[in-house]
Amino acid sequence: FGRHIHFEEEVTSTQQIALKLAYEGAKEGTLVIAEQQTAGRGRMDRKWFSPKGTGIWMSLILRPPIPPQKAPQLTLLTAVAIAQAIQEVTNIVPDIKWPNDILINGKKCVGILTELQADPDRIHSVIIGMGINVNQTIEQFPEEIRAIATSLSIEKGERIQRAKLIQEILLRLERLYEQYLQYGFRPIKLLWEGYATSIGKEIVARTLTGTMKGIALGITDEGVLMLEDEDKQIHYI
Ligand code: BTN
Repeated sequence: FGRHIHFEEEVTSTQQIALKLAYEGAKEGTLVIAEQQTAGRGRMDRKWFSPKGTGIWMSLILRPPIPPQKAPQLTLLTAVAIAQAIQEVTNIVPDIKWPNDILINGKKCVGILTELQADPDRIHSVIIGMGINVNQTIEQFPEEIRAIATSLSIEKGERIQRAKLIQEILLRLERLYEQYLQYGFRPIKLLWEGYATSIGKEIVARTLTGTMKGIALGITDEGVLMLEDEDKQIHYI
């Protein structure tokens, strides 16, 4: 991945640029990176704060030969690749929070946004957006998220080289993706569970209709969360 890189100083959102490139036929592995996003987007229509020169804001185009229902597995795969790269570069073992936030010391430093362009039976492209807080100081976060957000440099206590981290992420993403296409989701699932410290603990998970509280038992071979409620009923989310 990353043989075709579109580097931009300032964009609205790398997701938007990647989507356009995907429509124009961009190859699998094409990457859009920006120094700054003026309209960075998060999941559930939230904003993603993406100031200049501090984080990694990038979107990767994939064209996987898998049914559209399996696309969420790619988000979990991406979370594993980023967690591994963070561990390699900082020596900090991060925590993956279902489905795909990456936390250090309970605070979020990475968000992943996967967007799918597909027919009911065929994927045209998947755009995986990755937002990584790398060198922000705490004052550089908007006040309303200071209690829940962090950056790698805050946690590590020193500046982190963004280029090195990008390289490690792309390397691992490519490796895991090849492994996934060859052997399926199971090896990824085991790696994902290794980073998910919430397994065996009570969590509140978002469902299609609201939220549900229960013990996170793990994820299935399909990449679905198994949640046990207080009546010992297992729900697949
Ligand atoms: C989340 O809500 O946790 C997901 C955040 C995803 C942010 C990244 S930054 C690069 C890409 N471009 C965007 O506008 N969003 C994603």
